[in-house]
This record gives sequence, structure tokens and C-alpha cells, in this order.
Amino acid sequence: MKPYQDFLDEIIITEEQLQKRIRELGAEISKDYAGKELLVVCILRGGVMFLTDLIRQINVPLAIEFMAVASYGSGARASSGDVRITLDLNTSIKDRHVLIVEDIIDSGHTLAAVIELLQTRDPASLYVCTLLDKVSRREVEVPVRYRGFAIEDKFVFGYGLDMDDYYRNLPFIGTVNLKKYEDPT
Ligand code: PRP
Repeated sequence: MKPYQDFLDEIIITEEQLQKRIRELGAEISKDYAGKELLVVCILRGGVMFLTDLIRQINVPLAIEFMAVASYGSGARASSGDVRITLDLNTSIKDRHVLIVEDIIDSGHTLAAVIELLQTRDPASLYVCTLLDKVSRREVEVPVRYRGFAIEDKFVFGYGLDMDDYYRNLPFIGTVNLKKYEDPT
């Protein structure tokens, strides 16, 4: 894997901007769920960084759970309607307040499938919190209650989002110069 500096086009959201927005989201969620308990469901793997920072900004009692989802079809960099749950929750969500945490919504297929499945399990409430939202790419409607940033349709990486499995650990969101990334030199 090349040094990311070789293909980073631009840092579109800095570490400071991310952390500031996450504090705002945490405060909003804490207010909305005051007096209640939360079950936060993180969609692996991209949502992990966001989850760990976000939950530290929420001050209602909460538990965390994880789900993993695979999608197949038109290409590795865009999900199709064919979504499969590869890791399911370890607990019942019946009568619980569930908040799904995602790193990014693109076509919407992943979250639409997750929401459809979880609704069948009778949660008290079910809402979505996504860090990034590529609104212009949406193919199916997904109700988003909490949104960190609406972004343009560019290839992004860092802060949970990978570049061929690497660089999820970067503290910022950057865009990829695909020409430079694919350049073998
Ligand atoms: C990304 C992201 C969402 C999904 C969004 O996951 O974390 O789960 O794609 O795309 P959609 O709205 O078009 O369905 P990815 O499949 O890259 O897996 P990862 O989180 O493990 O990197």
C-alpha cells in the first residue's frame, strides 16, 4: 500500500471539524433521548471510528451492538440492492430505542436492508445516525435523523472509510486522486 500522501487529493473534513460535529451530534442525541436508554448499533467496519467517538459524547445510558453487511453486484465501490447480513446482533431489540450508526450512506441499499430487518423485531424506536451522506447518489430512500456532513460524490477515505482496506485509522476524511492511486510508479 502506498503512502496516502501519494494519492490524497484534498482533506475535505479535518480532524477538528469531525470532532466538533460529533460533539454537536452527541449533544443533540443526548437531548432527544433524555430519560431513555439507547441501544447503539454500529455497522461494521466503517462505522467503528465514528461510533467510538460519538458514544463518548452521549450522556444517556447506552449499550452497543455490531452488525456486518455485505453487498454484491455492480462493482466493489458501490453497493447493489443485493445485501446480506454477515454478522447479526447478539441481543433482542424488542421494545428498545435503537440508533444505527454508519460512516456513510451512498445508494442507501445497505441501510434500507438493515432497517427493514430490524423493524421486524419490534424496537420501541429505530433511527439512523450517519457521519457522511452522499445525498446525490441515493437510489432508495433512507430516513436519516442525524447527519454529520452532506458530501459531494467523490471517493473518500479515512476516519473509518477504507482505501482497499487500509487507512481507516486516519483522523480526517480525504478524497482520493484515483489516477495517482492507480499509477504503478
Ligand atoms: C460502506 C458503508 C455503508 C455502505 C454504504 O460499507 O459503510 O455500509 O457502504 O453504501 P450504500 O448506501 O450504497 O449501501 P462497505 O461495504 O464499504 O463496508 P465497510 O464499512 O466494511 O468498508
